[in-house]
Amino acid sequence: MSEPLLALEAVSKTYGGGYRLWPFGHRAGFTAVAGVDLVIESGAAVGLVGESGSGKTTLARIAAGLLPASAGGLRWCGRALMQLSRAERAEYRRGVQYIFQNPMTALNPHRRVGAALDDTLQGLTRMDRARRRARIEEIGAQTGVGAALLGRFPHQLSGGQAQRVAIARALLGAPRLVILDEPVSALDVSLQAQILNLLADLRARHGLAYLFISHDLAVMERLCEQIHVMQAGRIVESGPRDVLLRRPEAPYTRRLLAAVPRIG
Ligand SMILES: Nc1ncnc2c1ncn2[C@@H]1O[C@H](COP(=O)(O)OP(=O)(O)OP(=O)(O)O)[C@@H](O)[C@H]1O
Ligand SMILES: [Mg+2]
Repeated sequence: MSEPLLALEAVSKTYGGGYRLWPFGHRAGFTAVAGVDLVIESGAAVGLVGESGSGKTTLARIAAGLLPASAGGLRWCGRALMQLSRAERAEYRRGVQYIFQNPMTALNPHRRVGAALDDTLQGLTRMDRARRRARIEEIGAQTGVGAALLGRFPHQLSGGQAQRVAIARALLGAPRLVILDEPVSALDVSLQAQILNLLADLRARHGLAYLFISHDLAVMERLCEQIHVMQAGRIVESGPRDVLLRRPEAPYTRRLLAAVPRIG
């Protein structure tokens, strides 16, 4: 069997804590993620669901390499992150992309969309200008980011347009895993459906793996084959979508399911 694309092994994160002069001595800190194991196979769509504050974003940021874990570690294609060569690390950074809940905050307000996408591509590859332009047009066409949007500044975009730009940017470097942290929560319902369809298409087209975070179990049902339920920093239940949504075992999962209006 081939190695998983990304594996989190006993990952924990404690915020704050450490030694302080004031008030006195050692502070315990707050453990937002406590010993989580999570495997993402190549091409898999993995959902992570849990109530606010359960540690989903913290875990996702660790998986994306945006935040260091306090304990535990990551494996990328079977190799511990700590042991990767420079070139392999660059490959991991290109291979894992993160899409935020509010795309506007992730876009530089002073750069036109096209220039911002070009900056990203320059940071990830050694393509010359003409190839970068062709790549931006290619991915733009797939994500509904046409010439008109490329010429705009972020404040001139609607929420849906901004999320398309964020998706386009994430795909420029041909990632293998895209981490989506509540990517449609800030959008109205009709836009949500459009973006979810787009994400499903792009996954099929590019053979992407997704780590998809959402409160919304209907969204999970639409996009994810494997679902993990997180509570207070731990994964309390995991399973294939159909099993988990139809026959949840953990009381917490049952409460979550009961709390969310479901389609069908
Ligand atoms: N930088 C930080 N410093 C201190 N505590 C933090 C920090 N970031 C998050 N936390 C705390 O860690 C816990 C988990 O936060 P996290 O953002 O991972 O939750 P979440 O599951 O993504 O929640 P939501 O669904 O509201 O986005 C929360 O109690 C939060 O207050
Ligand atoms: Mg969050």
